[in-house]
Amino acid sequence: MIKKCLFPAAGYGTRFLPATKAMPKEMLPVLSKPLIQYGVEEAMEAGLTEMAIVTGRGKRAIEDHFDISYELEHQIKGTDKEQALADIRHIINTCTFSYTRQIEMNGLGHAILTGETLIGQAPFGVVLADDLCIGEGEGVLSQMVALYHKYRCSIFAIEEVDPQETDRYGIIEGDNIADGVYIVKSMVEKPAPENAPTNLAVIGRYILTPDIFDILRETKPGKNGEIQITDALQTQAKNGMVIAYKFRGIRYDCGSLEGYVKATTELFRKMQEARE
Ligand code: UTP
Repeated sequence: MIKKCLFPAAGYGTRFLPATKAMPKEMLPVLSKPLIQYGVEEAMEAGLTEMAIVTGRGKRAIEDHFDISYELEHQIKGTDKEQALADIRHIINTCTFSYTRQIEMNGLGHAILTGETLIGQAPFGVVLADDLCIGEGEGVLSQMVALYHKYRCSIFAIEEVDPQETDRYGIIEGDNIADGVYIVKSMVEKPAPENAPTNLAVIGRYILTPDIFDILRETKPGKNGEIQITDALQTQAKNGMVIAYKFRGIRYDCGSLEGYVKATTELFRKMQEARE
């Protein structure tokens, strides 16, 4: 059983300055819910209840969000506003939250390694909350957990991206062995379109086996001088097996203004349709 889910949330979020000056971009709301809450709800749906969060600045905003605000609850008790806190109440009652701080922002791989102290030696999920995923039928992490039970190796989510935009993603090459399932042959971080082997891009959902920590410790800084999870997964794929999974659903890149506005607009439309 996979119980733990890691949320790297220590990035600078420079594309959202000045909003991210004093709070992490994972606290930006889409409609009235912060991005990280969507991620936590997706993890819960997949049966993961121990949330481990790697923070940088703005740690307090996340900690306070996943805690009870007695003062606020007292104020709105008995009013029609009480319902607005029902979901977060359920999360707090069902999950545990632990935090650690990434002191230097040395990249996503380094952030995941920083989370080792909270994760220990069991397979775990990783959610990059700025990738907001709406699964088709079931959540993306649920789809991946089912796959993990079949293959018992590290798995990450991929999607087809515009071939001109490969330099924004980790790109993979793999053998397609089942519907949406690829055995990873090679991976490259942010290749220029002319050097990209495919347009299959890694997105922010992973299930990792704990040997990834030893690999990350040995991984030298790569692109941009950062420790890249892509490089560690490439090593893991060479030593054994790693699966890339083309998930069913939609991903919104809420780390970019364009994706964030698209997510807001489409989720607002869906909310209105549901109310009609
Ligand atoms: P991004 O590549 O989107 O970087 O990180 P960023 O710094 O947050 O955003 P921009 O590009 O400056 O706007 C992907 C994910 O990895 C986390 C981020 O919080 C985000 O969830 N991350 C990245 C860390 O936790 N630590 C790091 O050192 C880098």
